Amino acid sequence: MVQNVAGMLAELEAEDFHLLSGVEQGMRFSEWVAREKIPEFSRLTPEEVDYRLDRCLDRELIERKTIQYEGYRLKFEGYDALALHTFAERESIEGFGAPLGVGKESDVYEVQSYKPLALKYHREGYTNFREVMKERDYTSDREHVSWFYTARKAAEREYDALEALYPDVKVPRPIDHNRHAIVMEKIDGVELSRTKLEDEQVVPILDLILAEMGDAYEKGYVHADMSEYNVFVNTEGITIFDWPQATPTDHENADEFLERDVDNVVGYFRRKYPRLVPDDVDTAALASALAAGEFETVREYGSGE
Ligand SMILES: Nc1ncnc2c1ncn2[C@@H]1O[C@H](COP(=O)(O)OP(=O)(O)OP(=O)(O)O)[C@@H](O)[C@H]1O
Ligand SMILES: [Mg+2]
Repeated sequence: MVQNVAGMLAELEAEDFHLLSGVEQGMRFSEWVAREKIPEFSRLTPEEVDYRLDRCLDRELIERKTIQYEGYRLKFEGYDALALHTFAERESIEGFGAPLGVGKESDVYEVQSYKPLALKYHREGYTNFREVMKERDYTSDREHVSWFYTARKAAEREYDALEALYPDVKVPRPIDHNRHAIVMEKIDGVELSRTKLEDEQVVPILDLILAEMGDAYEKGYVHADMSEYNVFVNTEGITIFDWPQATPTDHENADEFLERDVDNVVGYFRRKYPRLVPDDVDTAALASALAAGEFETVREYGSGE
C-alpha cells in the first residue's frame, strides 16, 4: 500500500530532492535510469549520488533493478515527496493531516495552510500499469513511464477544469497544482451516497445538482463521471468534485457524456427515493435542456405518476 510520505519530509535534505528529481528527469528517457547517468541529471557528484541513492532506497522513495545495467526509478512515494516538497516551498502547504479519502484512483489528505485544505494525489494508470507489467518483460519502456504520465495528465485535467469552473460552479476552489497532485479547498460535508434526505429536500437537491451540471456546461465542461460518490452535501448546498474526466463541451462525445451523467444522477435519486422522483424522467430531453441553459426542475421531464 502507498504510504504517506509527509512524515518523512522533514528528514529529507535538499540533496535528496536533487537526487529524486534527477531520477525523475532520467525517467523521461528510460524506465530505469542508469546509475552512471544520475550525477548528470541530479547535478550531484558520483559520491553524493551513491549516498543519496542509499538514503532514498531505505525510505522506499525509489527502487533498483539490475537488468543489463543497474537502474533506478521513482516509486510513487518518491513522486509524492517531490510534489509535496514543491508545495511546501511555494508555501501552498504548511502542515500535513489525516486522510480524507483513499480511492482506487487517488489518495486525498487534509493539509494545513491559512486554513485546512485538501491534497489529492492522482494514481490513475498505476493499477493498470501493474497488470500490464506482469505480462511483459520490463525492458519495454513505454508502458512504465506512462503511469507517471497518466497520473500527471489526470491532475492537470482536473486542475484546469476546477480553474475554469470556480466560482461559477460549486466545485472546490483550486489552490495549487504540481506533477500528479492538486491542492484545493477542503469541503466539509457528506457524500451524497451517505445522506438520507428529508422528503421535502429530495427534489430541490436533485434540481440543484442538475443545475450545477448545466452551469458547468455553460462554462465549457461536462463532468463525465457523475455519481452519488462525487457530490458533497452540506447545509450550504452541494459541491461537485472529482473532475479529472471532465470533457470540453466541444468534444464530439460531450452530449452523450452529459446524458449519461444525467442518467446516473436521476437514476440514483429514483432508486433511493422512488416515491418522490418521477419514474419516467425523459433524461435525453433533460440533458438537452441543461445544455441549452433552459433547465428548471426535474418535475418538468416526468409525470411522477
Ligand atoms: N476537496 C475535498 N475536500 C474534502 N474531501 C475530499 C475532497 N476531494 C476529495 N475528497 C475525499 O476523497 C475521496 C476521493 O476523492 P475523489 O472522488 O476526488 O477521488 P477518486 O479517485 O474518484 O476516488 P474514488 O475512486 O474513491 O471515487 C472523496 O470521496 C472524498 O471523500
Ligand atoms: Mg470519486
